[in-house]
Amino acid sequence: MSRRNFLASTGVIAGTALIKPKDLKAVTLEQSNAPAKKLKVALIGTGSRGCGMWGRDLMKRYSEQLEFVGLCDINQGRLAFAKEYIGTDCPSFTDFEKMMIETKPELLIVTTVDATHHEFIIRGMELGANVLTEKPMTIDEQKVQAIIDAEKRTGKTCRITFNYRYSPHRAKIWELLQANEIGEVTSVDFHWYLDTSHGADYFRRWHRLTEKSGSLWVHKASHHFDLLNWWIDSDPETVYGLGALEFYGKNGKFRAENCRTCPHTKECNFYWDVTKNDYYKKIYVNNEKYDGYLRDGCVFKNDANIFDKMAASIKYKNGVQVSYSLTAYSPYEGYRIAFNGTKGRIDAWIQESRPVSDINYDEIILFKNFGKREYIHIPHGTSGHGGGDALLQDQIFVPNTPDPMKQCAGIRDGALACLVGIAARKSIESGQPVNIADLTSIKPEKNKKYTRIL
Ligand SMILES: NC(=O)c1ccc[n+]([C@@H]2O[C@H](COP(=O)([O-])OP(=O)(O)OC[C@H]3O[C@@H](n4cnc5c(N)ncnc54)[C@H](O)[C@@H]3O)[C@@H](O)[C@H]2O)c1
Repeated sequence: MSRRNFLASTGVIAGTALIKPKDLKAVTLEQSNAPAKKLKVALIGTGSRGCGMWGRDLMKRYSEQLEFVGLCDINQGRLAFAKEYIGTDCPSFTDFEKMMIETKPELLIVTTVDATHHEFIIRGMELGANVLTEKPMTIDEQKVQAIIDAEKRTGKTCRITFNYRYSPHRAKIWELLQANEIGEVTSVDFHWYLDTSHGADYFRRWHRLTEKSGSLWVHKASHHFDLLNWWIDSDPETVYGLGALEFYGKNGKFRAENCRTCPHTKECNFYWDVTKNDYYKKIYVNNEKYDGYLRDGCVFKNDANIFDKMAASIKYKNGVQVSYSLTAYSPYEGYRIAFNGTKGRIDAWIQESRPVSDINYDEIILFKNFGKREYIHIPHGTSGHGGGDALLQDQIFVPNTPDPMKQCAGIRDGALACLVGIAARKSIESGQPVNIADLTSIKPEKNKKYTRIL
């Protein structure tokens, strides 16, 4: 079905989408016979994610249902670029409060640096908006608690954009587990590899500072912990973590401020000329003069204080135990996962970059302990993040899209995903396992809670 036919079949092209709070927590986009009224959306953080998936893509795909009423960023140059790139004529602001008060959005989208998400989630809810935030929801347990308290206080809510749940490969794994194909799940082996391109890129950017990203334990692994929480369908209870920085940062033989000023470009495997990419030039390089942020920071800078190899043992409230690892300097990018159950096992993997073959599907193998094995092939998704990005957007902005796989994630889900990483960080500091229940008011439960929001 073409996109236009799909929209027509859901009544969207008629332009009748409205946002109607059904009650304080459950909010959904609905059809109505009332005259067309577009959802008023404001966005803070006009960087790469804000300009792309939550900016231009929304304008292209859902301009019948929503309108941008305000854009905000502390970098005025990037803000001006974003306005043009997204294709909106809405006002732009460098002052968040001013934007919220003047434009009164119904939905605030937060796509800033991770360590600032909580400020805008909380203040956005206080000023009357529901919020859609990029992951991770936030970076430490005090900020998690502040968000939980603000949700209770304001009656507004926040959806976390866990796009990884939406990729068809991961959704198929969820279905197999829910169908009890391998009996009760008892343990999971989950290993994620970032390659020397994407993995290195975290060390070029603000992500290399724990105070901005919460470290890869939170910035990156919260995606993975959210998947685990969703697949296992229970809450994480105890975390023991190990980690070290052994490859990037202080481990390099030489370093500079950034690639463009580096005297070692000929001998460095990580040399990267950001000016060769026109988009990066327009969004970052041309706007360095406003905030000094260098998109091509040296991967060997001494200030990097995040880990590049990490491992955790996680125990879930329903008894499932997980062995998890993340490595940030692999020759290829992807993951391997296995679920061990009382009646069988599921093996699955994805190789996201530098694939060893040109097959256009991803495989899952379903083993029965005393039966046949089954090979399941999932065609590659066409949109970003394994096909997940577009499916997530449709669920939020196409009216009446159901959620049969419980992929919608609220504040409790956002909290539990980052709390596993926060607990792992604390465990490394203390050398002791950390109980999730000791970090915030959330008490882990055997069966995961689900609420449909936004
Ligand atoms: N779900 C995914 O797969 C995915 C992918 C990429 C990024 N992200 C998330 O999106 C968010 C943005 O990442 P990005 O890659 O676009 O980063 P980016 O550096 O390109 O953009 C961040 C923007 O936030 C702005 N900003 C920072 N602090 C601010 C403040 N206090 N007030 C206003 N603006 C502020 C910066 O000026 C910049 O324009 C991050 O939280 C990241 O984790 C998610």
